[in-house]
Amino acid sequence: MDGVAVSCTDVLVVGSGLAGMVAALRLAPRRVTLLTKTEGLPGGSSLWAQGGIAAALGADDTPEAHAADTVEAGAGLTDPVLADLLARDGAERLAAWIAAGLPVDRDAQGRPAVGREAAHSAPRILHAGGDATGRTVVGWLAERVRQAPHITVRTGAVAWELVRARGRVCGLLAFHAGADADGGDGGGWVFHRCGSVLLATGGIGQLYRHSTNPAEATGDGLALAALAGAGLRDLEFVQFHPTALASDAPGRTPLLTEALRGAGALLLDGAGRRFMPAEHPLAELAPRDVVARAIGRRIARGEPVLLDLRAIWAAGGAARFPTVAGICAEAGIDPARRPVPVAPAAHYHMGGIATDRDGRSDVPGLWACGEVAGTGVHGANRLASNSLLEALVFAERAAAAILAGPVPALPPVPVPRVPALPADAAALEALSGRARAVMSAGCGLVRDGAGLEAAAAALAGVQREADGLPRAAMTGPAGAAGERVRAAAELRSRLIVSRLIVQAALARRESRGAHCRTDWPEPREVWRRHQTLTLDRPADA
Ligand code: SIN
Repeated sequence: MDGVAVSCTDVLVVGSGLAGMVAALRLAPRRVTLLTKTEGLPGGSSLWAQGGIAAALGADDTPEAHAADTVEAGAGLTDPVLADLLARDGAERLAAWIAAGLPVDRDAQGRPAVGREAAHSAPRILHAGGDATGRTVVGWLAERVRQAPHITVRTGAVAWELVRARGRVCGLLAFHAGADADGGDGGGWVFHRCGSVLLATGGIGQLYRHSTNPAEATGDGLALAALAGAGLRDLEFVQFHPTALASDAPGRTPLLTEALRGAGALLLDGAGRRFMPAEHPLAELAPRDVVARAIGRRIARGEPVLLDLRAIWAAGGAARFPTVAGICAEAGIDPARRPVPVAPAAHYHMGGIATDRDGRSDVPGLWACGEVAGTGVHGANRLASNSLLEALVFAERAAAAILAGPVPALPPVPVPRVPALPADAAALEALSGRARAVMSAGCGLVRDGAGLEAAAAALAGVQREADGLPRAAMTGPAGAAGERVRAAAELRSRLIVSRLIVQAALARRESRGAHCRTDWPEPREVWRRHQTLTLDRPADA
């Protein structure tokens, strides 16, 4: 408990959502250790995805059409070559997974059923278990990961620091909370020495007061990569889902899937009137950012916004959308009788660790895939249901690229020391709450220069207070220490990433896709480019 144990592997994968698990499976026969902060497998946002997986598998669809829709949604920042790769590779790879048994919902002829969603020019959204797509898919993958002899899963593990030697990442220091639910042994600090680290830690939704993302989505991978000197790309582009269940409590706010609007759900104002037809020709099926801002404006004026599911429920919607039915039941709302209050919530980060199309970051030995990676494929605004597909395609590509290289010899490197961390749980929680409120107020769905400057100053203040907290090496039972290490690590991630997002949003003086500035309301040609930020690159061990 007081020292640092050492564990060796070929590839360390951090994150247990779809991207991490697919990569881990595809990395056979290399030895893989899969670390996850969650108590069990699977974790991450993939588990909560209701809407499906976009792939051009329908009879009247083509990868070219899917790529064109992806480019269109990206508001000028999606590389058409990457979009083509996503659509073409994605359809092939998903078909191969389905052939291997990945469960998807079928049509009357037994073919994978495809549905339509906003901004897709053809029906191409596959589902699994109705609106429980993520849960069904990652549940199936988790079974395979548990059975894979080349993978060791360590749950309840907080990634603290990437370790570099001779110019490359050669390991990671983590705190293990205790005996793993999914294997592994014991708790404490562990230095995972390895040839490569692949970050698949997901998104940043929990930097905001309200998010559809789970508690673990605190931007840890971005912070680890930034601290190791990696470039972070397009951080300012944060997508807000228009229709999360309205809630005053911070945390994960359940999603009411876009597929509901695809099936005919209507958005109503407090007086019961539709407002989307006056906002956009596609009304409720307008692009996600347009719908989110239309809702956000009304809520900012103090008006409620409601999602009317009554017609869908009258036609048997509860069976088609079992996850939504469960969410409403838990909230004490009967959608057959009254419309459901909704509000936008942070949902997806288009930005991420700057990677090439094979998941390679600009620090040797460090790779990223899934939401934490910033390939640029989503541009300034991700097309609905492209996230699970992107995770699948780029996880496979990263695994293939790692396998194509030699197993790097593990360089001699000193075992990192146990870090001294702030241990005052109440102070950590209070500072986290303040940082979340600052991000929601100053760097949310709609921004302006003054609000962003105020957010930057407020976050700097929170950072100063965090830096001033008394520190100690964590001791005591691994379980209790694990919670404190996690809280300290998450506050550190939160502040590093929030401050970089605000910095990126301030610099981008235009509105484009999900980045909407009232003081720069139009896109500007000079900003039709990506933006990469770095922290100072640290000295090697
Ligand atoms: C949804 O079901 O509305 C979310 C799907 C997505 O974000 O792609």
